[in-house]
Amino acid sequence: MPDNAKIIPMPVPAGAQIDICEVGPRDGFQIEKTIIPTDKKIAIVEGLMDAGLKKIQITSFVSPRAVPQLADAAEVLAGVERRPGVVFSALVPNAKGAERAAETQVDIMGLFCSASESHNRKNVNASIEETLNRFLPVAEIARAAGKTVQGGVATVFGCPFEGEVPPASVVRIARFYRDLGITDLNLGDTTGMATPTTVKAVLAALREAVPEMTVTLHFHNTRGVGLANVMVGLAEGVTHYDSSIGGLGGCPFAAGATGNICTEDLVYLLEESGYRTGVDLPRLIEVSKLTQSVIGRELPGQVMKAGPRLQHHAMDAVSTAAG
Ligand code: COA
Ligand code: ZN
Repeated sequence: MPDNAKIIPMPVPAGAQIDICEVGPRDGFQIEKTIIPTDKKIAIVEGLMDAGLKKIQITSFVSPRAVPQLADAAEVLAGVERRPGVVFSALVPNAKGAERAAETQVDIMGLFCSASESHNRKNVNASIEETLNRFLPVAEIARAAGKTVQGGVATVFGCPFEGEVPPASVVRIARFYRDLGITDLNLGDTTGMATPTTVKAVLAALREAVPEMTVTLHFHNTRGVGLANVMVGLAEGVTHYDSSIGGLGGCPFAAGATGNICTEDLVYLLEESGYRTGVDLPRLIEVSKLTQSVIGRELPGQVMKAGPRLQHHAMDAVSTAAG
């Protein structure tokens, strides 16, 4: 690697495989008020695997009082059939969550801490310092159970309560994870405040501070620039993205939170840009429609409505304009 690799970003070359983590069953379902039956959650996860997704954030082992929708975390994991090459992750906030997760077939425990004090307090009822300290036993429990640990940061690109978040606040948490032996860093744009400028600034700071970590970008499309931010990520060399089926998603503990970038829209963009995803788009659209029917309202995803670009429509289904 040339010496300047840390300073000058290398665009991801065309033809590269892009790693997509589907977070709908966690980030998507957690914001839904009506409890989704466990067997419906499992059917959606099975559909996502049928469509070719290899990484699925399937639930959270958080307090069922905080997020009642995910109280069935263990049941979902027990009911999903393991497929070769597919990994399941789940969010874990503390030792109690790690103990629950350790008893399941989950592969990855995702830690999470906000880069802003006020959102962290709303989300996990603790200061950043206290939250990071809680992760020490979590990492031990995870490793003793043979699970991988990933480090997540929320409100990376802005906080709904504090506004601008300095990249140094993100770097502080990233360094903590690195020192805990974690190599995977997830950058959460909790309320869709990321912009091309802030994405570049945060990546530059992290490239300098923790160049050995693999970054996953987790964008929400709250202000309509989620996929534009992905293009910036690709130009900056980032190959890992989170997205949500149908564009479901949002944090219940952040004002104005809405959906993640939509998985089928992301797959469409990546494949049409010459990248590989390993995902079958028409099958994924079917899963999006299934999810929409389970949730019972229209989801924001656009490709599920329009279909793939070269899908032919029957001419006699459309009237002819005649003056
Ligand atoms: N799983 C299940 N139950 C848990 C738990 C976990 N991971 N962590 C705590 N609890 C239970 C405790 O056992 C205790 O139960 P009891 O009252 O019956 O004894 C109760 O919850 C309170 O425990 P405490 O440690 O005081 O937690 P808290 O009320 O301060 O809440 C969190 C802290 C982190 C557990 C809670 O804020 C949370 O789950 N946040 C997650 C939010 C989230 O998922 N956000 C979206 C992701 S961005
Ligand atoms: Zn999110």
